[in-house]
Amino acid sequence: MSAHGTSQARRTTVRDLLEMKERDEKIVALTAYDVLFARILDECGVDVILVGDSLGQVIFGYESTLYVTLDDMIHHARAVRRGVQRALMVVDMPFLSYQVSVADALRNAGRILQETGAEAVKLEGGDPAICERITALVRAGIPVMGHLGLTPQSVHALGGYRVQGRGPDQAARLRDEAKRIADAGVFSMVLELMPTALAGEITRSVDVPTIGIGAGAEVDGQVLVLHDMLGINEGFQPRFLRRFAELGSAARKGVSDYINAVREGSYPGPEHSFD
Ligand code: KIV
Repeated sequence: MSAHGTSQARRTTVRDLLEMKERDEKIVALTAYDVLFARILDECGVDVILVGDSLGQVIFGYESTLYVTLDDMIHHARAVRRGVQRALMVVDMPFLSYQVSVADALRNAGRILQETGAEAVKLEGGDPAICERITALVRAGIPVMGHLGLTPQSVHALGGYRVQGRGPDQAARLRDEAKRIADAGVFSMVLELMPTALAGEITRSVDVPTIGIGAGAEVDGQVLVLHDMLGINEGFQPRFLRRFAELGSAARKGVSDYINAVREGSYPGPEHSFD
């Protein structure tokens, strides 16, 4: 049974996710950036709620995640915290909050946990310098989720938002990185935009759960950006995305109906007014 399958509300832990992998039970993750959506996700039984730095695109309208600051992440994570009772809450460490030094990584991850109440942080990459940060955070008692494949904070170095690990050299590099961050102590890792077979191979080679986005079905769980899967980010329709709702059109209809009702005088009616 899922960590959420009990009637008693209990917060999901990193240990629960490890046990879900052992039981071959899929992990369900989604992003959230505010309290009301976070509450919906939590009450529906999502296992992991990620305050993603994708808020750069879906909340601020930036072209990439590179402009998101630590203060932005903390601001939104504090809102999300108020909506999350049961899911494991993970917060992205934004660009430049961990790349410069181990000391920075520790201080900034500490701020995230202390100022937001999140249970874990996520950071991107798998080279030896990143592994050094992961080890230092884990030693300080901060659970870390890794993120490999298409790592959006390196979009310029990667030459755009493209599938990673296609050639044998790239695939070998990703396999090495996965092993390295697992050894460094991550409790799980996001695998973004890579071939299904490679993601499956990585999933079977590490003890920690893998959570895919655009990485096929041979992974331990899935994550999507909330505004993409609910159809609020209307122009975004990559191959890997299934829209589970069309909230963009629903919102347009609601707003148009309101405009018409106000203009024609049918709103507010007596039932919305005070004697
Ligand atoms: O920022 C984000 O939303 C993410 C997910 C896509 C995994 O990193």
